[in-house]
Amino acid sequence: MVAYRWDSTLETGHEVIDTQHKQLFDAINDLLDTCRMGKGSEELTKNLDFLNAYTIKHFFDEEKIQQKYKYPDYPNHKQYHDAFKSTVRDLTHRLIWSGPTEELIKEVRSSIGDWLVSHIKIQDFKLAKYIKAQDAAS
Ligand SMILES: [Fe+2]
Repeated sequence: MVAYRWDSTLETGHEVIDTQHKQLFDAINDLLDTCRMGKGSEELTKNLDFLNAYTIKHFFDEEKIQQKYKYPDYPNHKQYHDAFKSTVRDLTHRLIWSGPTEELIKEVRSSIGDWLVSHIKIQDFKLAKYIKAQDAAS
């Protein structure tokens, strides 16, 4: 079962942001697959390294876009990003320490997968709407 898949309900209309979101969902799915199938710690570490690195890259790029457009909600939005980065880091340590327990898999789903879906639908949609308005005005 595919747990998290990007679909058009998650589309912000910003090409770079949408492309990176798709990649993030793939990374979360790969991680969940590895956990569920018991693929071993080497694969788990690989998935987690990628998820951490790609999360940092995506937020960095998205924050650059926000700064470029002088997005008024940038400070708040950045705080959400920072909190998520530390959630991913924290879950990474716990997954490596204790292995993918049912409890931790549930946390991956709620604190990473579900978080991303709602962040996109609320915060990133708001951002994309602002960018579109700015582009239209210029
Ligand atoms: Fe964001």
